[in-house]
Amino acid sequence: MRIGLLGTGNVAKALAQGWREAGHDVLLGSRRPEERKDVGLPVAGLRETAAHAEVLVNATPGNVSVELLRSIGADAVDGTVLIDVGVGLTDDFTELSHPNSSLAELIQEAFPRTPVVKTLCTMDSTAMTAPDALEGPSTVFLSGEDAAAKRVAGALLTDLGWPESAQLDIGGIVTARGQEHFALLFMGIANGLGTHTFNIKVVAQGQGR
Ligand SMILES: NC(=O)c1ccc[n+]([C@@H]2O[C@H](COP(=O)([O-])OP(=O)(O)OC[C@H]3O[C@@H](n4cnc5c(N)ncnc54)[C@H](OP(=O)(O)O)[C@@H]3O)[C@@H](O)[C@H]2O)c1
Repeated sequence: MRIGLLGTGNVAKALAQGWREAGHDVLLGSRRPEERKDVGLPVAGLRETAAHAEVLVNATPGNVSVELLRSIGADAVDGTVLIDVGVGLTDDFTELSHPNSSLAELIQEAFPRTPVVKTLCTMDSTAMTAPDALEGPSTVFLSGEDAAAKRVAGALLTDLGWPESAQLDIGGIVTARGQEHFALLFMGIANGLGTHTFNIKVVAQGQGR
């Protein structure tokens, strides 16, 4: 599958590497591709990356993502599945930049013909592509309105090492709010543990209770 990733930072590089190893054709999208020759993965401009993509991934700072996507243009992303991994934070990383909403909802609202799936944003980039390196199975969440887009995202998660049993569809795009707001608890857990490389597992009530 042709996967375009907007951004050339930690998340975009980790996901691109993971999907490349699974056999996908990846392209990173940069504002300044000519300055990103050392990334070690194919890099192009933002619009070219969107045009390349059967699936587009937003891995840009969440407080600028909508503006950045607008600069690419709705025509370039019409009908393309958009996997949103972004989280909007204030400059000091202590507050959400969309406290009463979510980045994924804002993207879906701004681009109604682009099915948005929110996933992977509840963990660090190292865990996104190496779930097996954690001590035991953990959970990855999916939010979005479009069932077919969620199936595409789910298959790409499987390619990163997330079995179906680890994937939890939590509902429509409004549920992305919970995933993004988890960032605040994430930072507290990271503080307590002394590492960002962890994930959470949802544990249901046992049978027969
Ligand atoms: N790091 C994690 O482990 C993690 C975990 C969960 C969620 N997230 C979310 O995922 C997104 C990406 O995180 P990241 O750690 O990969 O970020 P990062 O290392 O800072 O990379 C972000 C990339 O976005 C591009 N970009 C476009 N517009 C930008 C702007 N105005 N300012 C800065 N960069 C801009 C840049 O690429 P060019 O300069 O080449 O255009 C940059 O490399 C963020 O929304 C973050 O909150 C990150």
